[in-house]
Amino acid sequence: RKRLTITNLKKMKQDKNPISMLTAYDYPSAVLAEEAGLDVILVGDSLGNVVLGYDTTIPVTLDDMIYHTRAVARGAKNTFIVTDMPFMTYGIGRETTLRNAARLMQEGGAQALKLEGGTEIASEVEALVKAGIPVMGHIGLTPQSVHQLGGYKVQGKLEKEAQKLMEDAKALEAAGAFAIVLELVTEPIAEAISKELSIPTIGIGAGRGCDGQVLVYHDILQYSSPYMEKKMVKTYADIGSTIRSAISSYVNEVKAGAFPAEEHTFGAKPAAINHLYG
Ligand code: KIV
Ligand code: NA
Repeated sequence: RKRLTITNLKKMKQDKNPISMLTAYDYPSAVLAEEAGLDVILVGDSLGNVVLGYDTTIPVTLDDMIYHTRAVARGAKNTFIVTDMPFMTYGIGRETTLRNAARLMQEGGAQALKLEGGTEIASEVEALVKAGIPVMGHIGLTPQSVHQLGGYKVQGKLEKEAQKLMEDAKALEAAGAFAIVLELVTEPIAEAISKELSIPTIGIGAGRGCDGQVLVYHDILQYSSPYMEKKMVKTYADIGSTIRSAISSYVNEVKAGAFPAEEHTFGAKPAAINHLYG
């Protein structure tokens, strides 16, 4: 199968063909996601939480994102890969943003970049798009601003919030974004934004009216994720228990002398053995 393009993704909205997006952070997750037929891989800065063990995405660096994107790119050569620009690597002036974006594309090997924010970063989104880099927007609950937002709260409950979300979405579309993630946005507001825009919206905790959905790899697999209990997540497997019990069996068998068994061992020629024992 062929890697999708931003043209394909925009057409999927018109055709009412929902876009499936999931995060992946390394070679095996990328290989499995591609084999499973996923439309878009997101190398999310959520890797800070689920892979690196940080409490927020704020400590994630540009080098972290490049390192993980390279591994994903090696595993998913036929899947469209979007990489997050991490905290403070954009929104701080056009030239710096362009230079950091260039590293993610060249050294990482992403096909597109995702940035958190609305009107305040629209001019930088425009500069990236003009430089030939496809940009995915991300509004609603934007985890890099968690301290400013005062926690991981649902966005778009009040009139003022809803109005700001719509303004941000329109500004990103006008700046040339090819899609927008809506995170933890109330269902009616996410649906209204999806109807208003001609580019696809991809929801996480944003209800049924979006043009696509995104979730975090470790969340849907219950793979030792700090988010497992979130309401917006559906778990499709319990990999955490599978891994825990496999490791525990291994430990027990090593302690009991049950592993390795004869079939896991390698023999030598009798002469070689006799020589050592004299
Ligand atoms: O980093 C991430 O995983 C994300 C998604 C939750 C949209 O940005
Ligand atoms: Na992210």
